[in-house]
Amino acid sequence: MKELEERIKKDGRVLGKDVLKVDSFLNHQVDPMLMQSMGKEFYEHFKDQGINKILTVESSGIAPAVMTGLSFGVPVVFARKHKSVTLNDDLYTSEVYSYTKKTSNHISVSKKYLSSDDKVLIIDDFLANGQAVNGLNTIIDAAGANLAGIGIVIEKSFQKGRQLIDKAGIPIYSLARIKAFDNGQVIFEEEKE
Ligand code: G4P
Ligand code: NA
Ligand code: NA
Repeated sequence: MKELEERIKKDGRVLGKDVLKVDSFLNHQVDPMLMQSMGKEFYEHFKDQGINKILTVESSGIAPAVMTGLSFGVPVVFARKHKSVTLNDDLYTSEVYSYTKKTSNHISVSKKYLSSDDKVLIIDDFLANGQAVNGLNTIIDAAGANLAGIGIVIEKSFQKGRQLIDKAGIPIYSLARIKAFDNGQVIFEEEKE
């Protein structure tokens, strides 16, 4: 998505060797007009899949997920994060290890908001090692719901997540695909078609 790539070039900052800061439009301050364009873009891509629910993880996934839900006209559920989870029969839970932050979180979704009636589109802000997506997948399976696909705002294609998802054969659409960081510059994958 050209608009997003331009915005990343203009406002993104590369930190260290593999982190992109986008606090001015995605992770702290949020640009709702951009979020709306992204929601429409995800809708155009996935509209024929019978999707009736959007699923993400708090907190930075919520803004793009809500705008996607608005385009589809369907509810948005965000998994909640906890340091630990006391046994609770009303929740689907999963453990998510973050290689970036070197911490482990439990994420959970109430059984009220996910069931075998649901055809789910996962939306998230970043795809790095794929652990968040993996945790959401576990929850979708536990609920007996169906995964229709994954929509990612910014994919770092050089980390493990993309490969894991491709290997699992899950449809994925990333709005910006970063091939590499080169001396603080962002290099995008060439767009096909
Ligand atoms: P993974 O799910 O793909 O395995 O990602 P990982 O654990 O490595 O990432 C942990 C957190 O860091 C996630 O946010 C993820 O969105 C974020 N993240 C990963 N790479 C980048 C990056 O290059 N830039 C930015 N800005 N964030 C990145 P989180 O812990 O779930 O936090 P929240 O912001 O959603 O609350
Ligand atoms: Na996130
Ligand atoms: Na994040």
